[in-house]
Amino acid sequence: MKVINLSEQNSVMNHFMAELRDKSYQKNRALFRHNVERIGEIMAYELSKTLEYKPKTVKTPLGTLDIPLTKEGDMVIATVLRAGLPFHQGFLNLFDHADNAFVSAYRMYVNREHTEVGVHAEYIATPSVKGRTLLIVDPMLATGGSLAAAIDALLEAGKPKKIHVCCVIAAPEGIEVVKEALPEDSTIWCAAIDEGMNEHKYIVPGFGDCGDLCFGEKLQSFRKLVEKESRRNLKA
Ligand code: PRP
Ligand code: URA
Repeated sequence: MKVINLSEQNSVMNHFMAELRDKSYQKNRALFRHNVERIGEIMAYELSKTLEYKPKTVKTPLGTLDIPLTKEGDMVIATVLRAGLPFHQGFLNLFDHADNAFVSAYRMYVNREHTEVGVHAEYIATPSVKGRTLLIVDPMLATGGSLAAAIDALLEAGKPKKIHVCCVIAAPEGIEVVKEALPEDSTIWCAAIDEGMNEHKYIVPGFGDCGDLCFGEKLQSFRKLVEKESRRNLKA
């Protein structure tokens, strides 16, 4: 399986990554979302170079020419809510004819010390992915639990021709988990691969909680109810 780390090559993306990671820039939520979206656009452009193209004849007002184009109706872009939304928009800005899928999944701690996380997946809206190019885009790949749950759910909708998993920052442990859930010919794209995770399963140095930085803090009392239920289920 191919793992592509775009930070191995310097580009303007470094500036967007620096602003995403910088605590002082993070106060500007609109800029944070915009940078996530721009990284989605850059990754989509790089990924587009690996797609299949067939020449199609185009008529200009003055003549005709053949331009290599991708197959119409081939691509599905799938996102994990909610931090995935601006990243998804970046991909959709370039692959504007793609169909779209949404998986709602979120992490919750399953022990009192908040050192172990489980994933709660609730909702999926997807077209058939059978025989198509499936992009699964989620900015953070930490434990890999959210993406593994999304992959399992999406594969219920058919066997894709090819899967690309795309993220902004990945932890090496998460990459290994996702590799297990993917067919061997899949590709994992990352804007950066960081050194690992802290005891609360946040990527270090990372940039913090992507969903909160994009959209604001969520009510923790709701998650506490789910965590309590998960602990009860684990004991049963
Ligand atoms: C973030 C992110 C990923 C997940 C990655 O979502 O968007 O889906 O964490 O972590 P994992 O690899 O350990 O599963 P989060 O659960 O914080 O939900 P949110 O987007 O609603 O804030
Ligand atoms: N989810 C995030 O938003 N950030 C992390 O560091 C890990 C998971």
